[in-house]
This record gives sequence, C-alpha cells and structure tokens, in this order.
Amino acid sequence: MTGLGDLGRASDSSIESERMILVTGGCGFIGSNFILDWLATHTEPVVNVDLLTYAANPETLASVSVDKRYAFERADICDTAAMKAIFAKYLPRAVIHFAAESHVDRSIHGPMDFVRTNVLGTGSLLEAARAHWKSLGDDAAAQFRFVHVSTDEVFGTLGANDPKFSEHSRYEPNSPYSASKAGSDHLARAYFHTYGMPVMVTNCSNNYGPRQFPEKLIPLMIVNAIAGKPLPIYGDGMQIRDWLYVSDHCSAIRRVLESGAPGELYLIGGDAEMPNRDVVHTICSLLAKHRPGTDYTKQITHVTDRPGHDRRYAIDFSKIERELGWRPSENFATGIEKTVLWYLQNAEWVAHVQSGEYKTWIEKNYKERSATPA
Ligand code: NAD
Ligand code: TYD
Repeated sequence: MTGLGDLGRASDSSIESERMILVTGGCGFIGSNFILDWLATHTEPVVNVDLLTYAANPETLASVSVDKRYAFERADICDTAAMKAIFAKYLPRAVIHFAAESHVDRSIHGPMDFVRTNVLGTGSLLEAARAHWKSLGDDAAAQFRFVHVSTDEVFGTLGANDPKFSEHSRYEPNSPYSASKAGSDHLARAYFHTYGMPVMVTNCSNNYGPRQFPEKLIPLMIVNAIAGKPLPIYGDGMQIRDWLYVSDHCSAIRRVLESGAPGELYLIGGDAEMPNRDVVHTICSLLAKHRPGTDYTKQITHVTDRPGHDRRYAIDFSKIERELGWRPSENFATGIEKTVLWYLQNAEWVAHVQSGEYKTWIEKNYKERSATPA
C-alpha cells in the first residue's frame, strides 16, 4: 500500500479517527464521479483505495487532492493484508466497492485478469471488511454497510419482447467480465447469509457521462468523431443497452448506502433503452450542433461483431423507486448532450488518457475487426 503525496493525503492523515467511508476504485470512471459528488454534498471524509491500473486517472481527482476530507491509498484489493491494514487505519463505517476490471472486450482478450480482480479481489476485500466489522462494538457493527457495485450484465441477455431484468432474474452471465462480476455478487451475498455482515448489492445498467475512459462505446465514439477517425459499430448495431447518466448512478448508490436493507439486491437503470446505432447517430447530431462543419455520420463503419455479444439489457428499477424513493434525474437526451459537451471542453483530459497503453489496446481490439456491411 502506498500513499501518493500529490494524489491526495495518505498515511499521516488526521482524518483517520473520524467517521468516514471507504471507496475502492475511486480513480476510475464511476468511482471518481462518486467521490467528487460525495465531497460536494457531504461533510464526511472518504478514503479512496485504488491500484491505479490503466483505467485509473488520478488527474480526475486533482481538485480534491488537497481537501482535508480526502485520503488516497494506492493498493491492490487482492492483497488482503494491505486491505486489513487500511481498515485498521481508517476504521470506515461503510465501504463502497467499485474496483474491478470493467471492459467486456478486454475480458475476451484476457479473462484471468477479471477472475483475479473481480472474484479474488472482492473475496479479499470482503475478508478484510469482515475482520474490521467483527472488531466493532454492537452499535457500530449494526450500522456498518458494505455496498457491492455490480452490473446488469450478470443476468445475461434478453430477447426483444422479454420482460426487463428485475431482482428476481436468474444469473446467466455470458462474458468473462459478467461471469467474474456474478462470482463477486455471489461472494457478497454469501457474506450476508453466512456471517450476517450488512452487505447490499446493486446491479446497474450502462453508465455514461464525464470522465469515462474512451474504450467504452460512448466516449470512444465522441473522441473518434472529433479526431476524424472511424466510428466502429460492432455487427448490425441493433444491440440494445439501457443508459444511465453517471451522477444518477451515484445518487442511487448513496440512497442504498443510507436506507437500503442489508442482504438486499437493488437494480438501477435509466429507463433509456436504445440500439447502439441510435446512440452513435445521436452523438453525431450533437457534435454537428456544437462543433459544426462536419458530417460525422460519414465516419460510421460496421465492423466484425463481439463474440457472444449480448443482444439486449433492460432494467425494471421499480424496487429501488418504491422502497428507497430513487429515480434518475437525467433522461438520455439531457445526459448525452452534457457528456458530449464535457468531452469537447476537456480535450486535455482526453489527450492525457490516450497514453501508450491506450494506443496498444485500440490497435489490438480493432485491427482484427474488418469492415462489414451495415
Ligand atoms: P473503471 O474501469 O473505469 O475503473 C475501475 C477502477 O478500479 C480503476 O480506477 C482501477 O485502477 C481500479 N482497480 C482495478 N483493479 C484494482 C485492484 N486490483 N485493486 C484496486 N483498484 C483496482 O470502472 P467503472 O466503469 O468506473 O466501474 C466501476 C464499477 O461499477 C465496476 O465494479 C463495474 O463492474 C461497475 N459497473 C460499471 C458500469 C459501467 O457502465 N461502467 C455499469 C454497472 C456497473
Ligand atoms: P461497452 O461500452 O463496451 O459496454 P458493455 O459491453 O458493457 O455493454 O459497449 C456498449 C455497446 O456498444 C455494446 O453492445 C458493444 C457496442 N460497441 C460497439 O459497437 N463498438 C465499440 O467500439 C464498442 C467499444 C462497443
């Protein structure tokens, strides 16, 4: 475990003895949005535990690195001893677990990284959390929370007329990514059922918004369009995802943390099912509006499909709406326009994440995909 001075305060932090939350994967897309929102709306401190893999961008949190309520620990969630030391040092009252390998295409190229981080890493973190939880007094133990952040992809794929995923859907993961997340969900569930640890699992649909690494569909299409590069749609582009603006995911997690019932699963969605083709065309129209002079649709190419590509995801989020009073506040039209504007206004951030590793990945993922008819 390493404290990185300019990324946030670490070992000598005076926040160690206060009531605080522990976030894993806080330098990634959703985790960084969560921490920025948290510090903007709460007084309670947060410690961010992140290994800083390719998906991390500590620059994203530069604005809070000097905030007295923020501490950073560079550590691997698979390292149980390091996790136990972090729990002993900060005594968090809750954990929000985001850290994961998160990209389906990378899981197809290298599944074992996903098994290691998502399954073993979650197991190791749960073990460290359990040791900490057992050491708490009765009141603090009863109030302790572990929120395991997961994905709708664990439920597999839907046909066009199937009902949406709900908390009663069967786990049927199809990719190494979703299978490894399913494994982590089962471990989280087992820690509630076996040990009584107050664990809750959230399964959310596809997120988009500021600060998403441009290997995922929406940021990749925006940055490629701006750079005059091809917009590679896999297969026929009629695969459907439900899209949720990232700050709405963060507000749902806060709601689960505050009021969710231990042992429960909560599905979170955006009520915004859309085929990939429509998502890409929407991005092209918004770029034409805010950066006129180019017909971005001319850059669209259909390329070889993803193996085992799930056809449709859709979320029935009536449980979290009914029980915890949560609903998304953005719709796709408002969220995607904010997102396109963010990428237009943050060219420097984009340039910094398009490092050597990024170029290697883009080369690896797209070089084998020949253009196919639409
Ligand atoms: P991301 O890939 O952008 O970020 C992951 C973060 O975890 C990075 O900062 C990385 O450095 C860190 N990390 C990876 N391995 C680690 C390890 N061994 N130890 C410590 N830190 C490590 O991911 P994201 O898109 O922000 O997703 C966060 C979580 O939300 C994941 O668990 C993902 O499965 C889940 N989720 C994501 C989406 C989505 O659309 N992005 C939707 C639903 C659920
Ligand atoms: P992605 O953002 O990788 O999320 P997930 O696979 O977790 O849903 O992909 C979203 C959809 O976009 C998915 O159906 C695959 C498709 N896609 C493309 O068509 N082209 C691309 O270059 C990428 C990255 C994704």
